[in-house]
Amino acid sequence: MDVVVVGSCMKDLISYVPRLPDPGETIVGTKFTFGYGGKGANQCVMAARLGAKTSMIGKVGEDDFGRGYLKNFEDNGVNIEHTEMTSAAATGVATIAVNDDGQNAIIIVKGANDTLTEQDVANSEDVISKAKVLICQLEISPHISLAAIKLARKHGVVTILNPAPAVLNLDPSFYSMCDYFCPNETEAEILSGLSVKSVPEAMTAALLLLDKGCRTVVLTLGEQGAVCVSQDRKPIHIPAKKVKQVDSTGAGDAFVGAFAFYVSCMSHLPLAEMLKRSGEIAGHSVQFPGTQTSYPHRGDLQGDLFFS
Ligand code: RIB
Ligand code: NA
Repeated sequence: MDVVVVGSCMKDLISYVPRLPDPGETIVGTKFTFGYGGKGANQCVMAARLGAKTSMIGKVGEDDFGRGYLKNFEDNGVNIEHTEMTSAAATGVATIAVNDDGQNAIIIVKGANDTLTEQDVANSEDVISKAKVLICQLEISPHISLAAIKLARKHGVVTILNPAPAVLNLDPSFYSMCDYFCPNETEAEILSGLSVKSVPEAMTAALLLLDKGCRTVVLTLGEQGAVCVSQDRKPIHIPAKKVKQVDSTGAGDAFVGAFAFYVSCMSHLPLAEMLKRSGEIAGHSVQFPGTQTSYPHRGDLQGDLFFS
């Protein structure tokens, strides 16, 4: 395996609206679609579409959404030996509103994702230990993500944490246990207690997060690109190409999944180059509606993204 994800699967229920509703307000949407989402699964599918051998460790409910989800993984070539169906809870869902500017607001109900246990992680040791890269997020119980990261570390597997959605008082062991800590600007604000609106502010926050013990911090900033800092403590800015934003839902996941592809399959590239290419792939996804529906396949992308 190149990339193993221990994380969430959600059925996305997406409404397109002129603007996001205020509390107590009813507004009229223009379109509704279903999609396959969940931050863990999105990252896994993105890496798979670029050509990584991937495996998903997660849970769906024993229901139509769950059955559809397993088929979706198979269609994307994702190994689902350790994606289980449970009768204990329904498949997770995300109710998403996307406005005319392509911005979104999301409510998740974790359902089956919350039934993933440390035992499930332990049962996947075989797959995790043989992976090149493990990715985790915080849409399953954070202590389960931490157990997976510790197991990966024990076997020398590179670990990436996307601390999303952000939690206050994140267990400090997450920082010391992960090679790449990849928050977006909102998550970085919550975790650092600092404002993260501009590139210089992002650099300051990234240094503060680095000091909590991770090897490298990659802070994504949407259309402003990303900021990265490693052990040399010299933050760099990787700008993003300008694109017309249609729907930014899941763009952060496209970035993280693409980054995991580069770390596992093109590890000889310099870090800044991997991040530039990951940003370009995320930028592709914002130009199309939906989450996974907007993720490119390798063949849809410029060949130079895969040059050594
Ligand atoms: O990051 C985007 C994802 O967040 C969506 O696919 C939705 O399922 C929520 O988990
Ligand atoms: Na999109």
